[in-house]
Amino acid sequence: MFIDINQTDLHPLLEFVFQKYTFDFRGYSLNTLKRRVERFVKLFGLRNIHELIQLLENNPAIFDTFRNELTVNTTEMFRDETFWRAIKQEIIPQLALKKEIRIWHNGCSTGEEVYSLAILLENVGILDKASITATDINTEALKTATKGEYKKRYVDIYNENYKKIYSTTSSIYDYGTPTDGDKFQFNSRLRNKINFHYFDDIQGYSEEIYDLILSRNVLIYFTMGLQNQVMSKLFHNLNHNGYIAFGIKENLTWSSSFKYLKEFNSENKIYQK
Ligand SMILES: C[S@@+](CC[C@H](N)C(=O)[O-])C[C@H]1O[C@@H](n2cnc3c(N)ncnc32)[C@H](O)[C@@H]1O
Repeated sequence: MFIDINQTDLHPLLEFVFQKYTFDFRGYSLNTLKRRVERFVKLFGLRNIHELIQLLENNPAIFDTFRNELTVNTTEMFRDETFWRAIKQEIIPQLALKKEIRIWHNGCSTGEEVYSLAILLENVGILDKASITATDINTEALKTATKGEYKKRYVDIYNENYKKIYSTTSSIYDYGTPTDGDKFQFNSRLRNKINFHYFDDIQGYSEEIYDLILSRNVLIYFTMGLQNQVMSKLFHNLNHNGYIAFGIKENLTWSSSFKYLKEFNSENKIYQK
């Protein structure tokens, strides 16, 4: 059955979700939400948004699945070659000078980006002095990230990406072991270094200060008003001289905190406080 939900129908749904579950989707871009809500409605064999509200009203246990289904979790290891080359050549040497390094991956999804950076830190022998936090609202994605286990056919692609920025004989297969069902798991040395946990950018607030924040392809799903709010929180969490990176296609130069950031490598959306 083809389900076509009108964007205006989303408003009562998002308001209901906020009132009952205090999760605030109201500042997400309606275009993306519309497609994800349609998918959820179809998945649960519902006919319209009213049946969806009924389902969420009567089955609080389903809300976690609903929230997970509404997020876009596309990610990859070493996605965007020029970005990772910049991290390797320009950021890592700066971080290496520090006594301790504090890193936050905001919107880490299933963790691929987090393991990418951990490997770069390990390659230059500075993983031990790093403390790595990685957060998301998608609880299923966080489970995958914590396990650090991925299908080999994806790891093959990630390894190709890695080789584009590391023209050495090393491979990402050096950092883990094959597991059942044609999978590969990163070793406990990497996994134990990373603290994956739930954190909502909209309602969450943190006093932690980081030397590097990766917030790539997260704010892109928010309306400009919400982007502006979240940007000021991220700015607050950034150390003096700390680095912050956004997705290659994200443009946040208009936001109010942006004027306090310096260009570092703007082509790759890396800025410095
Ligand atoms: C497209 S993924 C980006 C993954 C990774 N940063 C990358 O660029 O490869 C976007 C992630 O943002 C997360 N997200 C969406 N809304 C969020 C919120 N309010 N707080 C924290 N994370 C959120 C989603 O669950 C999803 O995993």
